[in-house]
Amino acid sequence: MSCTVVVGSQWGDEGKAKMIDFFSKDADIVVRYQGGANAGHTVVVQGKKYVFHLIPSGILHPGKICVIGNGVVIDPEQLVKEMDDLKSQNIDIEGRIILSDAAHLILPFHKAIDSAMEEFRSAKIGTTGRGIGPSYADKCYRTGIRIGDIFDEDLLEEKVRLVLDYKNLQLEKIHGRKGFSIDEIMDILIKFRNTVKPMVTNTAYYLNEAADAGKNIILEGAQGFGLDIDHGTYPFVTSSNPTIGGALLGSGLNSFQINRVVGITKAYITRVGEGPFPTEETGETGNILREKGGEYGATTGRARRCGWFDVELLKQARRVCGFTELAFIKMDVLSGLDSIKVAVGYELNGKKVDSFPSSLLHKVKPVYEDLPGWSEDISRCTAIDQLPKNAQNYIEYIEKKTGIPIKVVSLGPDRENTIVR
Ligand code: IMP
Repeated sequence: MSCTVVVGSQWGDEGKAKMIDFFSKDADIVVRYQGGANAGHTVVVQGKKYVFHLIPSGILHPGKICVIGNGVVIDPEQLVKEMDDLKSQNIDIEGRIILSDAAHLILPFHKAIDSAMEEFRSAKIGTTGRGIGPSYADKCYRTGIRIGDIFDEDLLEEKVRLVLDYKNLQLEKIHGRKGFSIDEIMDILIKFRNTVKPMVTNTAYYLNEAADAGKNIILEGAQGFGLDIDHGTYPFVTSSNPTIGGALLGSGLNSFQINRVVGITKAYITRVGEGPFPTEETGETGNILREKGGEYGATTGRARRCGWFDVELLKQARRVCGFTELAFIKMDVLSGLDSIKVAVGYELNGKKVDSFPSSLLHKVKPVYEDLPGWSEDISRCTAIDQLPKNAQNYIEYIEKKTGIPIKVVSLGPDRENTIVR
């Protein structure tokens, strides 16, 4: 049995989907454990681009089972659309998608409240508007609608009425927006029930049985360490735990079953939405990284903020997640830069900071070291020793500074542009 957790080590968009697709060839089951359709996971196979928001990226490998765990918040219309898109591309999904009966649903009023709250705030978070926060909030209020609820015909309408009456009051009285009718919400739920009925089960039970039977399982995180609601840059975070704890809670597997934790890390850093970003480059370098790296959101199309690699952020992600290795992504984007900066520490009020100051990250100044760049196009290299010396040095430097071995290097979006060390 092998159970690998794949976690974003920065602020999301590190290239997790590409790596999950890559690791999936050796897996039996791929499990998405948190987040929702706020994620935009892009996989490129032989030049063809696929974007997933909910379905695990392992779906492109024939025969692999894809589980959406209890920690995920599911927008029914989005999930059905994604399944239809896959079918229309002749990808056989029959019997390959399993949904947790304990996963919470995102309904239209969650999306309306997400946008109304964003308008209401003076300091915007820059959410994706997909209803993520409001759905997780209902889970905590214990007014959420779970997939399992849609099969209980006696109680479903009563549960929907409770949450809807309250949401309509909030939308109409506080935000001056239009509410929703019970019929339109029930309609979505009943259609969804008919489509997904054979796919729904207790996935914690299913996954534990699979682990006991020696299956290889990959747990797929969305977003990244810096967006974790507990460990990230609160309040500029998402409403779930992309970190290792979220993988356990959102799947129902236990810590003794995990034997590998891969931190996915870009060779530079990006962030989309508001919040502190010590190594952000707002000038020419940021523009170069954005354009060369195609740094535009796969979900919202927003331009991502770009900056230099931050060792302190990665070290804190390692403390929380216990990475056993790193996958180093998008190194090809750095080709052509004369020199590459790496933040190796922070200063606060002119003094070196010793711990990781999560709540003061907006005030720190990064301390940089400069490394020589390389000019060659490296995207076609197939082995580490084909890389220019300065690119090899960059990999070794990051390994040394973070204390984590880099086992995979990605030099382009396609499956083929991947080197295993
Ligand atoms: P929410 O998850 O839509 O509530 O958004 C909260 C914050 O997380 C915002 O700054 C979003 O831009 C960011 N965010 C959410 N999902 C992703 C993602 O998949 N990649 C990068 N940032 C994300």
